[in-house]
Amino acid sequence: MLIAQISDLHVAPDESFMRKFVDANELLTRAVEYLNTMTPRPDVVVATGDLTDHGTADEYVMLGEILGGLEIPLYLLPGNHDEPDVLRAVLGTPDYVTGPTFDYTVEDHAVRLVAIDSTTPGRHDGELDAAQLLALEARLREQPDRPTFCFMHHPPFETGIWWMDCIGLTGARDLEAIVRRNPQVRLVVAGHVHRPVSTVWGSTLLFTAPSTAHQTAMALHDDCPPRITTEPPMLAFHQWTGDGFVSHATVFDKEGPDLNIAELVGDWPSAKASILERGPMHKGSSAVG
Ligand SMILES: [Fe+2]
Repeated sequence: MLIAQISDLHVAPDESFMRKFVDANELLTRAVEYLNTMTPRPDVVVATGDLTDHGTADEYVMLGEILGGLEIPLYLLPGNHDEPDVLRAVLGTPDYVTGPTFDYTVEDHAVRLVAIDSTTPGRHDGELDAAQLLALEARLREQPDRPTFCFMHHPPFETGIWWMDCIGLTGARDLEAIVRRNPQVRLVVAGHVHRPVSTVWGSTLLFTAPSTAHQTAMALHDDCPPRITTEPPMLAFHQWTGDGFVSHATVFDKEGPDLNIAELVGDWPSAKASILERGPMHKGSSAVG
């Protein structure tokens, strides 16, 4: 199963300051085209928040027009730049959202998808309150043996980017305890920081996706100014292998052609057959016998 993650789309009107810096709407349109035409095509797309820049009705209309072109099942989460009530008023409540928040579970795929709504109205930081954490643990305990993918907006760990960590997540330690008690949670992904960042909790990987629009500059000391950059927009992909997840982040809007190595080889079919005969190096091999 291949899960695509789009994050921090920041869809905005033409005249907005951010669109003059990076054209988030155009980039999201290209991201949708990339996802629709890639091989293999992802089974699902999860959007981990900051779908719009200001949470206005006009922005959700634009968002709906762009994401309406996506030909893959899509699961939305709000971020701190969103207004979930406006989202629902404009786009309707998605059928997978069954309660007052965007905490929901999707059971239709090989891996169980668990959405965690980390937003708090009117605030840029996130919070998981006690009732929400209890409900999450109850959800996870429903299927302790089924591989589970959790997705949220605010990362539940300190990224080292000080000004993003200062609008981080309250309740992260409690979430860590829950994940440790539920080892079927094989991957937790987030957005918010506009950079690919990863760390681990026990045997679970935590990953933040880059933005489909502007990125956050590396700023690992609080003397570094808070900067956003025109580093390339990216998508993230999480491949469930049956044993675990393997995650990638890739640029989808690059310039220049690729170099096809096969075209440099005289007898590519024979060379490919030889490579495939060797197979992935880890398969069936052991250094200790
Ligand atoms: Fe964002």
